[in-house]
Amino acid sequence: MTESGARTPEPEYMDDRAEAEAYAAADFSGVNAAFAERLAELAAAIDNAEALDLGTGPADIPIRVARLKPGWRITAVDAAAAMLAIARRNVDAAGLRGRIALVRCDAKRMELPSAAFDVVFSNSILHHITGARDLWTEVARVAKPGALIFFRDLARPASPAAARAIVETYAGGESAILQAEYYRSLLSSYTVAEVRAQLTGAGLRGLTVAMATDRHFDVFGRAAP
Ligand SMILES: C[S@@+](CC[C@H](N)C(=O)[O-])C[C@H]1O[C@@H](n2cnc3c(N)ncnc32)[C@H](O)[C@@H]1O
Repeated sequence: MTESGARTPEPEYMDDRAEAEAYAAADFSGVNAAFAERLAELAAAIDNAEALDLGTGPADIPIRVARLKPGWRITAVDAAAAMLAIARRNVDAAGLRGRIALVRCDAKRMELPSAAFDVVFSNSILHHITGARDLWTEVARVAKPGALIFFRDLARPASPAAARAIVETYAGGESAILQAEYYRSLLSSYTVAEVRAQLTGAGLRGLTVAMATDRHFDVFGRAAP
């Protein structure tokens, strides 16, 4: 990927009911399963854990993770009431109310205790966040020393034309609302270099940031004590 143009931020919270329903109705089963499996792989040695999911959306990912890791309890946060209503429905339908706690809060300033989580994970919150260093600072606060961190997000393409091509390739069959959302998300996302700078600014050491696919990067590793 060549050097990307400037970021065009999109709204942080997905609190519009139609947008939340369109997102929840889309078939992300492949990417969500891949995320949960990669997390389980990274966490192969962690049988029992307090885990935290940031920007949980419809909670499909924590549901998958809870099934792969039966010894984990997961706190799943989102700032959008519209998304949490869908998450509530899905967690109840999965019979996981006892293992997945849903919390409405901003992931940049959570009313959660410090050094409380063995695992902190998130899929696709970062591109929503302006002031991402605050998010990483909060991750560093709530993670136990040595906690496993795993984030996956979109990487900003080199140009609007490149973003359009990605939408066509990977979401050409989705609804117009979802395609528009995906395009905005791509332009709102960060580059690997920007994320490395955010981590340094937040004093979060010991993490690797690397491209995982042609349009995603992963941030993973153990939070340095
Ligand atoms: C693209 S969705 C991803 C949902 C889910 N992680 C998934 O992969 O299916 C991003 C979610 O992050 C939430 N979000 C955005 N900014 C947030 C913030 N500052 N605090 C908490 N949640 C936030 C949005 O409301 C939305 O539900």
